[in-house]
Amino acid sequence: MLDSIRIRGGNPLFGETKIQGSKNAVLPIMAAALLIKGVSVIENCPNISDVDHMLNLLKQLGCVVQKGNRSLHIDASNVAENTLSSKSVTEMRSSIMLVGAMLGRLGKVVMNYPGGCVIGTRPIDIHLDALQKMGVTIQERKEGEDKYFTATVDEMSGTFIKLPFPSVGATENVILAAINAKGTTILRNAATEPEITALCDFLIAAGAEIMTIEDEGENTIIIKGGCRLEPVCFKVPADRIVAGTYVLAVLGAGGHVFLEDAPVSHMKSVIDLAKSMGADVNVCERGIVILADSVKESLQYLETGIYPHFPTDLQSPLLAILTIAEGKSVIHEKIFEDRMLIVDELNKMGANITATGNEATITGVDKLIGTTVKAKELRGGAALVIAGIIAEGETTIENRNFIKRGYEDIVRDFCNLGVVINNG
Ligand code: UD1
Repeated sequence: MLDSIRIRGGNPLFGETKIQGSKNAVLPIMAAALLIKGVSVIENCPNISDVDHMLNLLKQLGCVVQKGNRSLHIDASNVAENTLSSKSVTEMRSSIMLVGAMLGRLGKVVMNYPGGCVIGTRPIDIHLDALQKMGVTIQERKEGEDKYFTATVDEMSGTFIKLPFPSVGATENVILAAINAKGTTILRNAATEPEITALCDFLIAAGAEIMTIEDEGENTIIIKGGCRLEPVCFKVPADRIVAGTYVLAVLGAGGHVFLEDAPVSHMKSVIDLAKSMGADVNVCERGIVILADSVKESLQYLETGIYPHFPTDLQSPLLAILTIAEGKSVIHEKIFEDRMLIVDELNKMGANITATGNEATITGVDKLIGTTVKAKELRGGAALVIAGIIAEGETTIENRNFIKRGYEDIVRDFCNLGVVINNG
């Protein structure tokens, strides 16, 4: 069957695999390249479809792009186009990431409201409100079912902005908009995810002046506007969510695994959880080694949260492994309102999960049984791969393309860890 993954499960994981570059870091960094007149070189870039989408968007704007094996060259010397096609925008929510940089560079953006994973309504009000505070005018229009907006500004003004919620995307957009603003922008209640730090590191390497402080208990980012950015070569950090997915797979199936390059300092919540569930986790210079028996005890209660709490992107993989823990576990999804799409698929494999709103109650079963299931979004798709690895017999996961949005080659990585897995 095309676009599927087949797994013969039921065995522990043994071996080692290397962790790819971070999806959520590289996407805003690619947007930031728009602000640099010259060629930005981005290394350790994951080979995923979201990067290809972002490259297409940059090309539409006039960038000359070149993609190597794990590197990107983005030449934004001649950017002139300010309209993004609706097809590419609806395919990827991160297209919203371009708004701040495009406004800083071109003073105008025309695009429709972005798409992305089906994990809730995912509004962009926090982005647009913050940009309006910087002097941007937003006009909306509707054509049939499609809703577009035009954002314009003569010159962005640095100002004080306090986000109502530390949205990752809105924080990145304000930082990017603030680079070419007149004056200094002070962004209070900014997100603290490591991907924000990576974006700031890229911009600082290019010549930006950005400072992060704790102000009255709130993370505050101060960006001095008007610094000229010069071309830079930057290495994307490893992906903490991909590494976390593989840690959870070892917890589910048991085994002994080395994850090379795992960004340990950004993975405290998942490492703590692995230890609390009995795994032996050893941090070494080049990554982490995990030794675990297949999960036995339930978790009682866990909620997802903003960094450094347990990431929402690992909620579905966690759900997958708790299906075989003894007793009851309750998982509360606190970031997105509709991120339980995987429950029906896991139940098809013999799991016993009931989901009400944002809360899932998992009653452990002896085993999962392989069958055909459908990925409906990126992280849920990866979680079904974990379920297939745990399950007895053969599992087929349809809609592999969702997983390719964020995992370079999940089949290759699990093959490295001894799983009988192939693309169907
Ligand atoms: C980013 C990550 C995503 C991760 C999420 C939370 C990227 C490309 N994606 O998504 O993998 O799951 O952070 O860690 O980096 N919200 C609003 N209005 C807004 C913006 C957000 O209500 O204008 C809400 C969202 O609907 C959601 C919550 O805030 O409920 C968190 O969203 P946000 O932090 O912005 O996540 P993203 O940047 O979309």
